[in-house]
Amino acid sequence: MKAVALMRYLAISDPESLIDVELEKPDADGHDLLVKIEAIGINPIDTKVRSPKDQVEKTPRVLGWDASGVVEAVGSKVTLFRPGDAVFYAGSITRQGANSEYHLVDERIVGKKPKSLDFSMAAALPLTSITAWEALFSRLRVSTSGGDSGKSVLVIGGAGGVGSIAIQLAKKVARLEVIATASRPESGNWVKKLGADHVINHFGDMLAQLVALGIDAVDYVLILNSIDRHFSTAANIIKPQGAICSIVENERPLPVELLKAKSVSFHWESMFTRSSFCTSDMIAQHVILSTIADLVDATAIGTTLGCNLGLINAKNVREAHRLLEKGRVIGKLTLAGF
Ligand SMILES: NC(=O)c1ccc[n+]([C@@H]2O[C@H](COP(=O)([O-])OP(=O)(O)OC[C@H]3O[C@@H](n4cnc5c(N)ncnc54)[C@H](OP(=O)(O)O)[C@@H]3O)[C@@H](O)[C@H]2O)c1
Repeated sequence: MKAVALMRYLAISDPESLIDVELEKPDADGHDLLVKIEAIGINPIDTKVRSPKDQVEKTPRVLGWDASGVVEAVGSKVTLFRPGDAVFYAGSITRQGANSEYHLVDERIVGKKPKSLDFSMAAALPLTSITAWEALFSRLRVSTSGGDSGKSVLVIGGAGGVGSIAIQLAKKVARLEVIATASRPESGNWVKKLGADHVINHFGDMLAQLVALGIDAVDYVLILNSIDRHFSTAANIIKPQGAICSIVENERPLPVELLKAKSVSFHWESMFTRSSFCTSDMIAQHVILSTIADLVDATAIGTTLGCNLGLINAKNVREAHRLLEKGRVIGKLTLAGF
């Protein structure tokens, strides 16, 4: 089968950083589905895993943690899916990624593809939807049934892949007042179209911009970008007893003492926790993806596809990495077909 893989960890400008390879088609066993891949999404995690380092793989390493396709075969323990089902999923960071014609994935982290989306639009959603859902509803414990309606959330990094779905979930599912950050006219227009009530610039004084909007403080903050830069601002902006969740890692120690006086809680979200540790509630991601598919098919939320970059091959996947490394992608990047 065709696949896009790496052997060495090189700068994306190097044509050897991601290469076209032929691999053996794998067999499904246990809880695994063998999926014929139709489309993939590329995320910043791909560029982080691929980042230059002094390491050489003995066999081709396949990246890619967003996919849509059709179940070709199932392992003996599979109960949720059958051959022929159209699916979408992110997969596990501990296994080969999905940038290949066929891919193995545990059924418990797979959802049925939204019927109303084509494969490319569906591949834009899984990783970021799981992240945004877990951040809002599992970590910050926002009510999924409107119990926190009218409370406010600041989404820092609103136009990125995760922000694009987080805004929609916060607005349409939780019925929160959503303030999203964006620094350019085009990213500002994008977050407004997704449902943000207000837009402020993450490169400016965010507290002053909120005060100018008549907002003194917010109930929740989602940090989706540059936590070292934004943590102190989040600590200033958050209401007493509010909650902050970050999906991005810090490079310097975080001044968590800033949260003490207001009894603010701080949460991490990593969407690979459940699959990496095979937690007993791993099937929650199957449920999240199924809920996302239902919301999409009911037109409550939409795809976050920003751009389809063409066929799945090394040249086009390198282009997706190059764009993501610039840090200015709006929505999601996908590729479809081999
Ligand atoms: N923990 C997890 O499970 C998890 C899951 C998914 C992603 N992540 C991580 O989350 C980060 C975001 O991923 P993504 O896919 O949403 O994003 P992305 O597509 O890389 O985000 C691009 C957006 O970030 C905004 N941005 C750039 N610099 C910023 C800054 N200093 N402050 C705030 N926003 C800034 C830009 O908006 P403007 O153009 O308007 O400036 C741009 O639209 C990545 O580091 C990724 O690895 C973590």
